[in-house]
Amino acid sequence: MNRLRRIEQLAILALCLIAGNVWAAGSDYRLDKAYTKITDIESLRRGAIIFAQNCVSCHSAQYMRYSRIGEDLEWSSEELRKNMGITGSVFDTIASPLTDEAAEAAYGIVPPDLSLRAKVRGLDWMLSYLKGFYRDEQSSTGFNNAIFPDTAMSNILAALQGIQDPVYEEDHGEKVLVGLELSSPGIMSRKEFHNAMTDLVNYMDYMSEPAKLQRVQLGWKVMLFLLLLIFLTYFVKREYWKDVS
Ligand code: HEC
Repeated sequence: MNRLRRIEQLAILALCLIAGNVWAAGSDYRLDKAYTKITDIESLRRGAIIFAQNCVSCHSAQYMRYSRIGEDLEWSSEELRKNMGITGSVFDTIASPLTDEAAEAAYGIVPPDLSLRAKVRGLDWMLSYLKGFYRDEQSSTGFNNAIFPDTAMSNILAALQGIQDPVYEEDHGEKVLVGLELSSPGIMSRKEFHNAMTDLVNYMDYMSEPAKLQRVQLGWKVMLFLLLLIFLTYFVKREYWKDVS
């Protein structure tokens, strides 16, 4: 009897969980999937350049040293300086020229350090955030964000992406954001912008754990070695047992 009741309770719990998920999926704005590849050095290079040109004016990355980027992305010292716009030493970490006081005065908040944000938020979130700005006259910056409502960050990539407007649907009398549509195109096509943001997210993933680059590359070698070892041990076993059986 007791057991039956427990099964009953479990079944109800499972149903509630499934129903909850379906409900959440129905009301949520869908996150983009970030198909990044950390071993794609060309993609990391493009992402690093976008980051240096568009983000460092406000955001720092205090755990990332320029020289390490140069080593991992296989840039010479001159290339590194030029691509990342370094004016000081290549052994510096990425620091924004924006002081905390100036940021407070301009945005009411200090833009967070981006060294680890990709790890904290996840790559899908990051990609969707960067692609999720839309026009909103109510907002102080003139833009809002589908993933991070009322973000203090302005739509700094509008020239590349173009301007997006929100698409709403009625749900039980409530306005729900279901998508964004491009109302005036930018310099890049929709696909080009998506690819550029994927490169940027890839670079931010690398930045949040530079050792991952080596870890992933080493991982393949170890797997290959183990596979070879299986073959070898199998043939040794056959050789040993040949005379016995
Ligand atoms: C003009 C200044 C400015 C520039 C340039 C800028 N940001 Fe921001 N960003 C901000 C501010 C301010 C916030 C804080 C938003 C808030 O908390 O409401 C922010 C927040 C963020 C966040 C959210 C962090 C979190 O986890 O809460 C991410 C991610 C981000 N920025 C990425 C970028 C990237 C990538 C670029 C370059 C393409 C960039 N930003 C360029 C000002 C800027």
